[in-house]
Order: sequence, then structure tokens, then C-alpha cells
Amino acid sequence: MKITVITGSPHKQGTSALLADKFIQGANEAGHEILRFDAAFEEVKPCLACDYCASHDGQCVRKDVMNTWYKKLIESDMIVFVTPLYYYGMSSQIKAVIDRFHANNEKLAGNKKSMLLATSYGADDWTMEALEKNYEAILRFMNWNDAGKLFATGCPVREVIEQTNFPNQAYVLGKSLQ
Ligand SMILES: Cc1cc2nc3c(=O)[nH]c(=O)nc-3n(C[C@H](O)[C@H](O)[C@H](O)COP(=O)(O)O)c2cc1C
Repeated sequence: MKITVITGSPHKQGTSALLADKFIQGANEAGHEILRFDAAFEEVKPCLACDYCASHDGQCVRKDVMNTWYKKLIESDMIVFVTPLYYYGMSSQIKAVIDRFHANNEKLAGNKKSMLLATSYGADDWTMEALEKNYEAILRFMNWNDAGKLFATGCPVREVIEQTNFPNQAYVLGKSLQ
């Protein structure tokens, strides 16, 4: 499979980056082709909702890295979202990418798998509830199939998540992909 992993943290060595690394390691070992889109380290401008794209075959009026990513995203068999929990949702860095799907929504929709890997400080039973619902709604709208979710709660920093089994779970999710 061609898999695009979109990360949303500004921490290069953070908790979610570790999950992304481990997932990619497993998926690579399973023979998949991986593209990594570190959204926090690219310029991704917010959607202007101008609908220029609607009359220009999916071309976005904003000139940034998304214009090279559309084709790669459309060609991907699977999109993996890796985000820290920010105010009970995705980080704005990854959300900006998702909002920009708007320009090519029809070409992106359908026939893809997706996965969500997320980390948080909190560890209540409801900590990931809103994020999970948001992810499920996005998949329903895009007509994509969920291939797995990993919620690494109680992990504020790298030193903590390294002491848990979450990185190994991310590795197994990648390695066991068919
Ligand atoms: C702006 C901001 C908002 C956050 N919001 C939440 C939150 O709503 N719930 C929570 O449990 N943790 C929250 N956190 C903590 C992060 O989710 C947590 O530290 C995570 O491990 C950071 O991931 P990273 O190292 O990949 O950046 C927030 C952190 C920041 C900086």
C-alpha cells in the first residue's frame, strides 16, 4: 500500500512523533511505501473558503506545499493522522491540512483506509472522546475505512511515553497492515 502519514506536532522528538516513527518502522518492515507529511514543519495556510477550487478543477488559490501534496494524497491507499490532543481535538497544524482537503474532496473521497494515532496529557475515560468522534465523522464524510486507532493517554512528554507500551502498539499497527 501507499501510505501517507500526516503528523501534527511541532515537537520533532515529541510523544506523537515517536508513535509516527514506530508506526512507519512497522509499516516499512511490512513492505508498504510510506510518505511522511510533517504538517507543523511545512507551510500549510488555512482554507479561505473562497471556492476558487470549485471552478478550477481542484486548484487551490493558496500557494503553498499543499499544491504538491494533493496528488500524493489522492494516490495514497491510506492516510494516517498522528496528532497530539489540543483542547480535545487535533492540533491546528494537522487540521489545516484536513481543511485544505476541501479543494479536492471528491478526488480524495472513497476507497481509502485511515488510522488515528493520538497522544495526550490527560487520561480520563473521556479524554479522547471528542477527537474520536471528529475522526469518525471525517471518515464517514470521506467514505474512508477505519483501520485502527491508538490513544496514548497520560503521556505529556517523550520520557513518559517511552516507559509505556504505546510505541510498541504503534509499531504493531504498522507491521500488521495488509
Ligand atoms: C496547546 C495545547 C493544548 C493541549 N490540550 C490538551 C488537551 O485538551 N487534553 C490533554 O489531555 N492534553 C492536552 N495537551 C497536552 C498534549 O496533548 C500532550 O503533552 C502531548 O503528549 C503532546 O504531544 P507532542 O509531544 O507530540 O507534541 C495540550 C498541549 C498543548 C501544547
